[in-house]
Amino acid sequence: MIAWRKLPSMVLAAALCVLANTPAHALDNGLARTPPMGWNSWNTFHCDVSAKLIEATADIMVSSGMKAAGYRYVNIDDCWLLKQRGPHGELVADPAKFPQGIKAVADYVHRKGLKLGIYESAGTITCAGYPGSLGHEKQDAKEFARWGVDYLKYDNCGDYRGETYPQRYTAMSDALRATGRPIVYSLCEWGNQSPWNWAQAIGNSWRTTQDITPRWHTDQPANGYPQGILDILDQQAALSHASRPGAWNDPDMLEVGNGYLNNDENRAHFSLWALLNAPLIAGNDLRKMSKDVRAILTNREVIAVDQDWGGRQGYRVHRDGNADVWAKPMSDGSVAVILLNRGSGPLHIATSATAIGLKSASSYTVRDLWQHHSSTSAGAIEADVPTHAVAMFRVWAGKAPAGTGTPG
Ligand code: GLA
Repeated sequence: MIAWRKLPSMVLAAALCVLANTPAHALDNGLARTPPMGWNSWNTFHCDVSAKLIEATADIMVSSGMKAAGYRYVNIDDCWLLKQRGPHGELVADPAKFPQGIKAVADYVHRKGLKLGIYESAGTITCAGYPGSLGHEKQDAKEFARWGVDYLKYDNCGDYRGETYPQRYTAMSDALRATGRPIVYSLCEWGNQSPWNWAQAIGNSWRTTQDITPRWHTDQPANGYPQGILDILDQQAALSHASRPGAWNDPDMLEVGNGYLNNDENRAHFSLWALLNAPLIAGNDLRKMSKDVRAILTNREVIAVDQDWGGRQGYRVHRDGNADVWAKPMSDGSVAVILLNRGSGPLHIATSATAIGLKSASSYTVRDLWQHHSSTSAGAIEADVPTHAVAMFRVWAGKAPAGTGTPG
């Protein structure tokens, strides 16, 4: 039983906001003012993590142009630990995987101008069975800070010892803040308790669903698993009110370049996550990245949509069978729009400038964010979209302002 005096005030504030059905204010740790960008080991490597992998990934993040495109965080997921804590209750990195410990890896990553992320769980064990942080939050947060960690993904496995979700996730938020080190705090409770209603006050992002898998769609998910790109997308449609600078909905890490996804599906996945202001955390093997995948992950016009806050993340404007239209207001008054073909045959998909929220004008500038060319339109926004693909545009009423980098 948790004593009332120990219940952090943040939880009470969050609870009040839920009752009032208004989202709490964003966590004021000054971080993630735009959605975090980086890489995480889990989607490709699962438990096969090592200093060697993390350092090689950091090298390629620089040499591939990903760093220049905005990617910063190199994140170690589960399985970096020994199965037992050390003699003083401390977490110990597995010396077979991280022979010099985590600080040496953080130093390496920092020398590249990048940042290091790590993983723990708000329960007694991590999802792969390593020691969890429940009851050790202060000690573990201090250790992360001492090592130079910049980002924590905080999972939801193990026993909760009777504590509620907000209690467990707030304990780590408080512990991170107490270290004085800026550490992005990424909640991963899988959307179980509608974190979009309470996590803004304690974290920088919160997972909205169960784990992503590298496939377009699953017809028969069991207990919400596995989730393909469309399955996760559909769960985002009702959440666009909840995010804001410093506090983002997280529809899970990218599967671009992984599994069963072809080039069109990779582009569609990346475009949609950008429109949702999702954290763009790549999950592919950068050492084997194809030119096509690199071109997708470094498409600056699409990344610019993700990194722009025009007051609301992308939302679904319309769905008609297999044709979806999604739009997102941009801070310069333009609107980003995606025409998504969910189905397995080509489709002509059309919307209009006014339907996506632009004011009425005699002509519009339409920038194709994948073909990188501009055209004008009297108001129709349309395209022939291949199967499992998107067309993505940014549309201005009248001319695009100078300096938006949009000449055809
Ligand atoms: C959970 C998370 C995944 C990953 C694994 C690691 O399933 O949702 O993203 O971190 O645990 O075990």
